[in-house]
Amino acid sequence: MATVEAVKLKTRPLLPKFGVEILGVNLTEADRPTMAAVLDTFHKNGAILLRGQSLTPAQQVAFTREFGEPETNVREEHTVPEFPEVFVISNKIVDGKPIGNPEAGLNWHTDFQYGQRTALSTILHALEVPPVGSDTLLADLCSAWNELPEEKKRQIDGLQVHFSYQMFQDKRGVKLTQAEKDMMPDVIHPLVRTHPADGRKAIWGLAVSPVKEIVGMPEEEGLDLIRELIAYCTQEAFLYRHKWQPGDVLVWDNRCTLHTGTPFDMKNHIRHVHRTWVQGDKPF
Ligand code: SIN
Repeated sequence: MATVEAVKLKTRPLLPKFGVEILGVNLTEADRPTMAAVLDTFHKNGAILLRGQSLTPAQQVAFTREFGEPETNVREEHTVPEFPEVFVISNKIVDGKPIGNPEAGLNWHTDFQYGQRTALSTILHALEVPPVGSDTLLADLCSAWNELPEEKKRQIDGLQVHFSYQMFQDKRGVKLTQAEKDMMPDVIHPLVRTHPADGRKAIWGLAVSPVKEIVGMPEEEGLDLIRELIAYCTQEAFLYRHKWQPGDVLVWDNRCTLHTGTPFDMKNHIRHVHRTWVQGDKPF
């Protein structure tokens, strides 16, 4: 029987120590050993890119299942009809109505950080993209941890971050139902996280809008530390800038990356992207 080792994927790095582009694989036709090698590459490298793909929502959900159970979206608004797992990031208007959220993720965060089990990975599939702008930026949080001065490591290792989905939605003017509130209580996660695949560490609990405090620190002091760490982790040396082409599938590992979308000329161009999340676990 073929094994993961039996399939040698053709790859090239996105950054010297982070992320890999996988060449010559069509995700709708990949056999089991090839898919196993794709997953193995993902777990070791923090992000994978496959260009020239053409996935229907059902095929994207099937690909998502290769990584684990798809994560549900708390709110069904802006999901693909009949595919509640597929969130639409788009500025397209159909029959006078927006069919997606055009501005999802325009700030540094990792996905579903405010959930009890955070998202393991995020899969973005670009269907239409503008000629310039809308790049997705990924920061390599393991390299950021590895290169942090020892004294700073001692200062932040063990700190706990208080996330609040309800506060986050409140700031955006979104009124949650009681059922949505019950589904999303506040959670406490570590600032420095261990990757369950191989024990590598990442400076992880970073975001501003959904963070209430670092436990045990005055609120402003905690948020200042988070802002300082975001600035450190997102410096050029740790950053991959993804310039989209239609057909791209970009998958990143939320256990060791921080990401943000970037703006584009929404008046004159369309960006239409399908996003799925894979269920993760409680960070430790
Ligand atoms: C996200 O943060 O989920 C999306 C980022 C992007 O659209 O580039």
